[in-house]
Amino acid sequence: MAGRNSSESDLSRVTSPELQGQWDEGDAEKGLRPEQLDEYIGQNKVKENLRLFIEAAKLRGDSLDHVLLAGPPGLGKTTLAHIVAREMGSQIHTVSGPNVEKKGDLAALLTNLQPRDVLFIDEIHRLPKVIEEVLYTAMEDFKLDLIMNPGPGARTLRIDLPKFTLVGATTRTGLLSSPLRDRFGVPLRLDFYPVAELQKIVERSSGLLDVEIDASGSAEIARRARGTPRIANRLLKRVRDYAQVRAKVSRISVQVARDALALFEVDERGLDPLDRKFLSTIIEKFDGGPVGIETLASALGEERDTLEDVYEPFLIQEGLIQRTPRGRVATRLAHEHLGFPYLKGGAPQGALFE
Ligand code: ADE
Repeated sequence: MAGRNSSESDLSRVTSPELQGQWDEGDAEKGLRPEQLDEYIGQNKVKENLRLFIEAAKLRGDSLDHVLLAGPPGLGKTTLAHIVAREMGSQIHTVSGPNVEKKGDLAALLTNLQPRDVLFIDEIHRLPKVIEEVLYTAMEDFKLDLIMNPGPGARTLRIDLPKFTLVGATTRTGLLSSPLRDRFGVPLRLDFYPVAELQKIVERSSGLLDVEIDASGSAEIARRARGTPRIANRLLKRVRDYAQVRAKVSRISVQVARDALALFEVDERGLDPLDRKFLSTIIEKFDGGPVGIETLASALGEERDTLEDVYEPFLIQEGLIQRTPRGRVATRLAHEHLGFPYLKGGAPQGALFE
């Protein structure tokens, strides 16, 4: 299990909002996941909408309209898909966009559904184009066109599908083709959580994990969780480990939380070493920007998609970077946070040379 060890010792990943598959974190998260809308903290607009549409569909004995959940990783899209199925009293069938490679894969999934079931497609923006096209008629008319004997004697066989609900999750709606986007009757956007809601999530999770924690301890974890429940829960577990092994205490106080987070290199704003590298690279190598995302990706040795989907949304929301037509710019706040002088606009050397 080399992957497991290397990942566990890499503390910079403690704040990654992405699922860390090698730990089977999907399963670890499961015990903490709310199972019904009433248990789900935050995202009030999203909940309100879902509650209404689910109730209406149930009253009519109909399937729920297709739901698109958009937002950065770790905010609860998968959790909500499971809640939708449960509240509808139906089964959920889960698949990830890039894993649906052939039309036959999708046909197998669709023909296995019962009326009102949820088909959850995670990372739906990564579905191959040919698969996407099969989905159009499935979503709109609940029909599946199968081509028999491809070639000159080809025939199309049209199969009726049960009325199902497609729940699609995407990190960026911009990456979805408009024909697909337009077929979702219920498009919903998840936002980063305010600290007060994250604190409630940390307290709920502490209860489920049997961890004792002070209100100031849960607030400290919430403040540094980048607006993301998945990170809040992960930090809670790591701080619990620290409390037990290093601090040798049975209760997480604010001081224990601070000491643990300092050890994990998570700063007061919740930035981890990679976030700080992102900012300091713009500042030191590119004079604060603007710098194109491709250039930045190669300077950092990261995938462009990872930077855009995982790192940037939070840095933008915090006002640490700006996305401009000419590239990314580190703001005054980013300079101040990292202790760099901010020389943009009235830079002293500019005045001297003019
Ligand atoms: N665990 C993860 N996300 C949650 C949420 N939004 N509400 C309650 N518990 C959670």
